[in-house]
Amino acid sequence: MQDVHQLRCTGCASVIALEALKENFRCPDCGDLYEVEYPAWSAKAAAPPANARVKRNLPNPSALRWLWKERRTSTELKDQSGVWRFRDLLPILADEANIVSLREGNTPLYALPRIASATGVERLYAKHQGMNPTGSFKDTGMTTALSVAKERGFGWVACASTGNTSAAMAAYAARAGMRSLVLIPDGKIAWGKLSQALDYGALTCQLRTDFDGCVRVLSEVVRRAPVYLLNSVNPYRIEGQKTPALEIAEQFEWEAPDHLIVPGGNLANSSALGKGFLEMKQLGLIKKAPRVSIIQAEGANPLYRSMQASGGRELTPVEAHTRASAIRIGNPASWRKAVRVVEASGGWVEQATEAEIALAKAEIGAEGIGCEPASAVTLVGLKKLLAAGKIAASESVVLLLTGHTLKDSDYTIQYHRGDLLSEEEIGPLRPEIEITRRNTIELDADAEQVLRTLDGAAQ
Ligand code: F0G
Repeated sequence: MQDVHQLRCTGCASVIALEALKENFRCPDCGDLYEVEYPAWSAKAAAPPANARVKRNLPNPSALRWLWKERRTSTELKDQSGVWRFRDLLPILADEANIVSLREGNTPLYALPRIASATGVERLYAKHQGMNPTGSFKDTGMTTALSVAKERGFGWVACASTGNTSAAMAAYAARAGMRSLVLIPDGKIAWGKLSQALDYGALTCQLRTDFDGCVRVLSEVVRRAPVYLLNSVNPYRIEGQKTPALEIAEQFEWEAPDHLIVPGGNLANSSALGKGFLEMKQLGLIKKAPRVSIIQAEGANPLYRSMQASGGRELTPVEAHTRASAIRIGNPASWRKAVRVVEASGGWVEQATEAEIALAKAEIGAEGIGCEPASAVTLVGLKKLLAAGKIAASESVVLLLTGHTLKDSDYTIQYHRGDLLSEEEIGPLRPEIEITRRNTIELDADAEQVLRTLDGAAQ
């Protein structure tokens, strides 16, 4: 499979030999990030030069659609994975025996009937990436990048993380029999995520800094030790993370929704999904791609500020503060890629306050679905884009929920106990927040008391 892919710098467009790639995955000339590219798919490759190693050998779109559906009934691991099921669009390995998979992907697309009727958007769905093996969307990119690490003979993999990447990396490394090094910000990640890294056997270092500080330290570590970097600057992560776009298209009978709303942290996921939709369009699998909008927490909003100040031409890092710890990132690595996706797709960038995030999370929870705080920014984004007239109620919208609600149960409990937000943060949202709060009720072990409580609730 490997021969058909190459890496192109997204800044200066130069192509690099796979062996020449630096350990930090940055272009030696301009410092920008690489993207995996498949020359066989481009229109130019319709008539490849006689000496070309690449052949235009892709099945036609309907054959691909049929093949991908058929694989769901197979008992083979690579077919049961919702990522490798689409391996025809992921030719990054020389040998498929190197695939490391936990049967990721194939996540559900849920209707959100209560939020649909409250907002008027009838065709509203949540694509729940929290239903992956380690509880977040990171698994889709980890299976691809870690398989590449295995194929290239690395013994150690490493990442800096706000928690989910480290959980995913530790799990996949353990499956592959590889060692993993995790750098996380001290005291600033959710317990669910930290417990996963420990359980899956990662060497877990809590650094006295924030996520951006962990990234800085790790970039020096990978220069000095033979460890393979698995942060999302690794272009092979992006290849796996584009596959939920294929699943969404499949779940919409190969017609993309009008809008996709995604949380933004380090800004790789939005870029990956945008790439997925673009490639499907290029290959004739879909006719039109959705608008991709990115939502950040107000306290960790460098992309939002950049769009306001310079239309996304420059980005000034911020010191990030938000309880949505997954997206507490002030200096996002993939911001240029994200700007391109927003511009190319005709989407927007919005921000969400702490109270808006908490309320939206409770509203998604009340649908029986739940998600972690960072995922809930997508619903805040929907409300804002509707209010601004940028999304019409008649259009179809998918909210990408990135993490499982059990990742950060402390946050949820504090919200329902009324301990999460300050009066000042709650502001005018108090009535809506009060309706969604569900604290526990303490009673004696007495059926009468329970029946009286039931009676009261049924009124
Ligand atoms: N949602 C969740 C649950 C996340 O864990 C992250 C990122 C994002 C959204 C944002 O995605 O960075 O691609 O824009 N978490 C990373 C981590 C940074 O280390 O787990 P992004």
